[in-house]
Amino acid sequence: MAATSAAARGARGLLVLLLAAAAVGRVRARARPGEVLIWNDEFDVLDTRVWNHLVTASRGFNDEFQYYRDNWRNSYVRNGVLYLQPTLTAEEFGEAFLYDGRLHYPDCNLSPCVSEAGKDIVVPVQSARIRTLGSFGFRYGRLVVRAQLPRGDWLWPAIWLKPVDNAYGPWPRSGEMDLMEARGNKKLVTAAGVSRGVDRVASTLHFGVNKTHRSWRHTTWEMALPKGEDFSQAFHLYEMHWTPRCISFAIDGRVIGAQEPPPGGFWKLGNLDHNPGGKDIWADGGDMAPFDKPFFIVMNVAVGGRFFGDGLVNSPHPKPWNWSSPQPMRDFWERRAWWLPTWGDGGQSALKVDYVRVYAPAESNGFADNACADADARANAARHAG
Ligand SMILES: *[C@@H]1O[C@H](CO)[C@@H](O)[C@H](O)[C@H]1NC(C)=O
Ligand SMILES: *[C@@H]1O[C@H](CO)[C@@H](O)[C@H](O)[C@H]1NC(C)=O
Repeated sequence: MAATSAAARGARGLLVLLLAAAAVGRVRARARPGEVLIWNDEFDVLDTRVWNHLVTASRGFNDEFQYYRDNWRNSYVRNGVLYLQPTLTAEEFGEAFLYDGRLHYPDCNLSPCVSEAGKDIVVPVQSARIRTLGSFGFRYGRLVVRAQLPRGDWLWPAIWLKPVDNAYGPWPRSGEMDLMEARGNKKLVTAAGVSRGVDRVASTLHFGVNKTHRSWRHTTWEMALPKGEDFSQAFHLYEMHWTPRCISFAIDGRVIGAQEPPPGGFWKLGNLDHNPGGKDIWADGGDMAPFDKPFFIVMNVAVGGRFFGDGLVNSPHPKPWNWSSPQPMRDFWERRAWWLPTWGDGGQSALKVDYVRVYAPAESNGFADNACADADARANAARHAG
């Protein structure tokens, strides 16, 4: 395990800084002047004391098609790279199991714990979601993740942050910060022909009162690669710089979006005093509330779900399910000839993570003038996808 939090916490001065940089080896991401590495994982092994597996049959808010479990098939390290790899339920349990089976893992840690054939089939996919919940959380700093995205239809990789304490209440009251979300499809477009495939990634801040009274459209930013390129072809650097004065996202060093503490706070920014309004739930928090408390890191690969709306157009094969069907997972599974070949082999359908690093100012006042000041950030923020 390469986590150096204890060493880095005591780090002071340039010499220690240089040693830290040398120790982490491949210096594609490195501390900037005045910064120290406060936490990292280089994935020499998958340390389950650091990364806690979510084990659940819950299909999230988005009706996804996977069971998240703690199994070497779905999460492992190979050659210094972490793989989060979705697999087929039928591969281990047989096809008939999907139609008459009952899947339950005893180490389940979030209910529901059972996926059972009934109105729809048993979840057709097994996957992994790992978190630093209980081992590492941070408030403010620069998070850098070097990752290669999965390619394959209906895969939904994510690297994101969730609040440690839910100080303002359950989701989405205490906020959510999405460093990277993408869709693995090679050719997926909106009705207007705009790509929603693996050539594009998004970073997003989520906040609000509940599932219906919330906001993210003002705080989502995208980046698309030039035609012919996509994020599954190579490793890229996904970066979030979070200070008390600014949250900015960058890919390969290029800022794609930035948000300062808005006048009136995130309540005003999200237009939450309208439709239906109510009391500003962050009025007693800081300017950045709810993004002024510690968050932990989450990484996963989901499959299917409402992130793939019925309005999206896939080719060469259409979307194998729709959201008016009583059995979306069965529709998805029985049309696997359309999507399974796109998953490839040899880890193509895995989210691959080389490292996760978190930097913070060496001095406690180091965040003082870190507003979203640089012109690049402003320029990019101004033309973010509203
Ligand atoms: C969500 O919050 C709003 C504002 O407080 C409230 O009016 C609405 O009833 C809530 N909706 C649900 C589903 O709880
Ligand atoms: C949705 O899927 C169901 C089940 O496959 C199908 O019967 C129905 O025609 C589909 N609806 C639309 C609008 O495509």
